[in-house]
Amino acid sequence: MSKPPTIIFALESSCDDTSAALVADGLEVLSNVVAGQDCLHGRFSGVVPELASRAHIEAIGPVIAEALAGGGVGQDRIAAVAVTCRPGLIGSLLVGLMAAKTLAYVWGKPLIGVNHVHAHAYSPSLGGEPIGYPVVALVASGGHAALYHCQSPTEVTALGQTIDDAPGEAFDKVANILHLGYPGGPAVERMAREGTAGAVPLPVTLLKDGSLDFSFSGLKTAVLYHVNGVPGARLSPDAAGRKGPGYGKGAENLTRQELADIAASFQAVVAEILAVKCRRAVEYSGARSIVLGGGVARNSVVRARVEEMANRLGCPLRMPAMAYCTDNAAMIAGLAYHQYLAGDLADLDLEASPTIRV
Ligand code: KG4
Ligand code: ZN
Repeated sequence: MSKPPTIIFALESSCDDTSAALVADGLEVLSNVVAGQDCLHGRFSGVVPELASRAHIEAIGPVIAEALAGGGVGQDRIAAVAVTCRPGLIGSLLVGLMAAKTLAYVWGKPLIGVNHVHAHAYSPSLGGEPIGYPVVALVASGGHAALYHCQSPTEVTALGQTIDDAPGEAFDKVANILHLGYPGGPAVERMAREGTAGAVPLPVTLLKDGSLDFSFSGLKTAVLYHVNGVPGARLSPDAAGRKGPGYGKGAENLTRQELADIAASFQAVVAEILAVKCRRAVEYSGARSIVLGGGVARNSVVRARVEEMANRLGCPLRMPAMAYCTDNAAMIAGLAYHQYLAGDLADLDLEASPTIRV
């Protein structure tokens, strides 16, 4: 008789998605319920922390109930309760953490605290075969840009991170500059389909030779100056002496084609930066496989450019299914399964931390 699967119940509430999931043996997603808050934050063009934590409080009960009902397994079959404990918005994290502690206590199950960004690096496994380690993992999301060398799901060494904005944040801010709506990533991608990449010259910021860190704020500012003009010199050309189409006009005065060309050019530069950093990390670490995760991994141009780079390097590439790119509790349950096997359990003193370290 085969061994019954180890089922983990997980909660995720680190930013603006309330999610609960049941995952068997770290791979098979039995249920994954996500309640987003885009309508709430859209008019502010970004996540408002206080609104986010209040919305988590309202959503967490129904989301838990739906995930438990949808998974088709009773509480007796659940091995442990996992929860994102870092990094994230502290008020948001605390809602999931308190709910998870309560369930672990009432059900008498072990509690597991999971690093959200490491879980993004694990997400390509969900619904598929286990990842073949070691790998270089690139996480590109709304709050993070991180490169890791992973020896296993739980042995993760940081190679690089963003020194300013995250790539998803840059997508959201560029969408705001172009008046395309929120969340910005999908809006920029849609608009970019009508444009030509490279039509607007933008800086490909790679930092110093061999650096595995990221910087996206210069790129975002270049788009801002291209659209709205350089402050104090609204009508003057840019640093390279160019007066590109729409230079300094403001988004409301740009044609649809001009907006599309900016979106396509910006998106191509983000994809290029991510692909080059993957190549550098492979060369640096010696790992011969790549995994990509995070909300920006939903972007078709990013996926294609990183895939092209991986093929050129002869490295297999794993990317998450679309549903597991953006924040979800299935990836938390998936990684928690490996922590469970490794005996990495928490107790009811588990704390939330807004930072990636701790
Ligand atoms: O992973 P995620 O849900 O949250 C964080 O952990 O931060 O990522 C959300 C980010 C947002 O910034 C959103 O604009 C971006 O992922 N995103 C995209 C796309 N879909 C979502 N960025 C580019 N293209 C997309 N299609
Ligand atoms: Zn995330």
